[in-house]
Amino acid sequence: MSVIISPEEVAKHNKKDDVWLIIHGKVYDLTEFLPDHPGGQKIIMKYAGKDATKAFEPIHPPDIIQRFLSPKVCMGSVDLAKLSKVVVEETEEDKKVRLARENMPRLEEMYNSFDFETVARSVLKSDAWAYYSSGSDDEITMRENHSAFHRIWFRPRVMVNVKDVDTSTTMLGSRTSLPIYVTATALGKLGHPEGEVVLTKACKSRDIIQMIPTLASCSFDEIVTAAGPDQTQWLQLYVNSNREVSEKFVRHAESRGMKGLFITADAPQLGHREKDMRQKYIQEEPDEITRNSTAVVRDQGAARAISQFIDPSLCWDDIAWFKSITKMPILIKGIQTAEDAVLAARHGCKGVVLSNHGGRQLDFAPSAIEILAEVMEALKRENLDQGFEVYIDGGIRRGSDIFKAIALGATGVGIGRPFLYAMSSYGVEGVERLMGLFQDEFEMVMRFMGVTKIADIKPDMVDIRNIKDHFVSNPTDYLSKLAYEKMQPRHNSKL
Ligand SMILES: Cc1cc2nc3c(=O)[nH]c(=O)nc-3n(C[C@H](O)[C@H](O)[C@H](O)COP(=O)(O)O)c2cc1C
Repeated sequence: MSVIISPEEVAKHNKKDDVWLIIHGKVYDLTEFLPDHPGGQKIIMKYAGKDATKAFEPIHPPDIIQRFLSPKVCMGSVDLAKLSKVVVEETEEDKKVRLARENMPRLEEMYNSFDFETVARSVLKSDAWAYYSSGSDDEITMRENHSAFHRIWFRPRVMVNVKDVDTSTTMLGSRTSLPIYVTATALGKLGHPEGEVVLTKACKSRDIIQMIPTLASCSFDEIVTAAGPDQTQWLQLYVNSNREVSEKFVRHAESRGMKGLFITADAPQLGHREKDMRQKYIQEEPDEITRNSTAVVRDQGAARAISQFIDPSLCWDDIAWFKSITKMPILIKGIQTAEDAVLAARHGCKGVVLSNHGGRQLDFAPSAIEILAEVMEALKRENLDQGFEVYIDGGIRRGSDIFKAIALGATGVGIGRPFLYAMSSYGVEGVERLMGLFQDEFEMVMRFMGVTKIADIKPDMVDIRNIKDHFVSNPTDYLSKLAYEKMQPRHNSKL
């Protein structure tokens, strides 16, 4: 029988040589684990003697303590009745977020994906906003992902009967109401206490496919269980250096009905998402160990804390092994050239996702929409286009973006941040509304373009002559700008 411990008793264990924490109602003695915590000691000490569930939950898999720590560290269960009476002081940031949430516009006032982004920025805590919104380095690729769509113009056809428009289609053999899917994004609980199941529920009601991330905040089984019986879900896989872990995960996913395996190939190391990295550094003063160390190990943000297991040795030779352990169609996510799309087809993959990871990996990687036409051409030239499905993601924010991608040969498009923002601000209803807005916008563009079904959307409906004309604004050089302004001579200066 579990020992019941009062919060007052837990509170006494709040020093580095004796540190207890409450997580999900259980009390853990983390004294010995403290120096080994990958996220640093500071964050554990911040919650020493207190309930750490809220900080723990978004960035740890639910079963991580059971998997990595001895059962001996569990001292018992906290007295929940007493815990609920413990008054937790509201921080300045919590207050700001609470007020922003109280003043959110009504959901009906959200008219496009950018509206959700604006609201999310004000209601998300700063670490969540930094993790979701960041791109890598100067964020040139992240911005380019959407601006590239601005270089494609339409060639609309009129005098076509467009009374009835059908936006439904098939992706990897599954029906969907729209040629879009919710792409894999990690750490859903940073934005919403229920995490990724919020997206699952909205996908269920709007008939949209969800790609489940390896690094979800909810467990894989929670997300699958939240789905309806006929709901299609795919699995995104970060390949583990320990292939047994990946094998077990893939086999389990197949047994739970996943209809596609998307292996992420663009993250052999994590990009420098400096917004995310800085955020962590500002929030937490370095502890004595890191402050005094010559080899400074700073906490490098949420992304880095969760991704150390990803195998940088993943290569084309591994595809045969994946094919031997699963019957799911295998697709490579993160293809960035026509040559690699051809290689994926030659290695027996069922398709690819042209993607630069939402501009979070290699800055100056091209946008997916820019390379889509050349990828389709190369596959055709090599006779590899039949039955091979090409998806794209990155920067898709409007129904017109979806249309342009389909016109250039994509089977469907993945959408990431907009759904995270809708989920974080308005929960399931928010995600449903955004899906509805995409539906309305896409249907409207189809009607204006003179097409009534997806199969009729063709490359000659778009003008891509300017697609290669990159014009990129340089990031502002704040350092020299500020230094220059500080150099203004004072009135009585002799300078
Ligand atoms: C917050 C966030 C987390 C992400 N996590 C993952 C991940 O765990 N695995 C993965 O393959 N891609 C991940 N991605 C990349 C997305 O799957 C997708 O490529 C990208 O978000 C598309 O760009 P968009 O956000 O502009 O729609 C993530 C993207 C974001 C914004």
